[in-house]
Amino acid sequence: MDLKSHSYHKQMIEYYDGAKYSYDWDGVRQSYIDDEANLSVEQRRTIEQIQRVFSGRKVLELAAGGGRWTKHIAQTAKSVLATDTSEQVLAIGRSLVKEANVRFVQSDAFKLGQLDERFDAAFHFNFINHLSYSDWPRLMESLHRKLICGAVVVMGGQRYRAPESDDGIDYYTDRECSDGKRYRLIDNLPDEDQVESVIGHLVEDLEFAMDNRWWAKYTVL
Ligand SMILES: C[S@@+](CC[C@H](N)C(=O)[O-])C[C@H]1O[C@@H](n2cnc3c(N)ncnc32)[C@H](O)[C@@H]1O
Repeated sequence: MDLKSHSYHKQMIEYYDGAKYSYDWDGVRQSYIDDEANLSVEQRRTIEQIQRVFSGRKVLELAAGGGRWTKHIAQTAKSVLATDTSEQVLAIGRSLVKEANVRFVQSDAFKLGQLDERFDAAFHFNFINHLSYSDWPRLMESLHRKLICGAVVVMGGQRYRAPESDDGIDYYTDRECSDGKRYRLIDNLPDEDQVESVIGHLVEDLEFAMDNRWWAKYTVL
């Protein structure tokens, strides 16, 4: 299977558009509510750090899902435009995140041209790790076109080491849904050197951190 192709992106969208959840949207919505009620001390600390970074900024969020991070970013940001390909998860986000400075809009992160505004900050979590490293520059080109010079970007993902790799670069996991359909998803765990080598030339002030998650923060040139 070609994990770097258009067909890969299509199956990733399909998987997150409901296959993963067996289209149990009530269950997914409840899981967002439960997770929110059980934030750990470490999660709260992370949220506070992110809120400081985005304070007063106009934030573009990619792959926002049901707005897990959106509502926290909105507490200090000037505004948040939360985007995702899945209308289903965006509907959950709209029902759970009621802050007046948040809008949820369907948009493919690789096709942000439809957004007719620019931002001074961006955020995405558990998204770019599902893309081949070879797609990172293309994603960033798409994102950075919507950001002003000096914009700050924070991205991250779970600290999860997927079991398999064809090339020793991209790692992946096979996931089977309840209807028996299988999805092979890229699931990379970037380290500081990888992030530096893939995007270091495109950005400045690159910082990297690893706790229960991996994090990178940078400024757009
Ligand atoms: C693992 S979820 C992360 C959701 C959220 N950021 C969070 O941390 O809870 C990945 C999300 O990426 C979205 N997605 C997949 N492909 C996308 C694309 N090309 N553009 C924008 N969103 C995409 C999926 O619909 C899904 O909501």
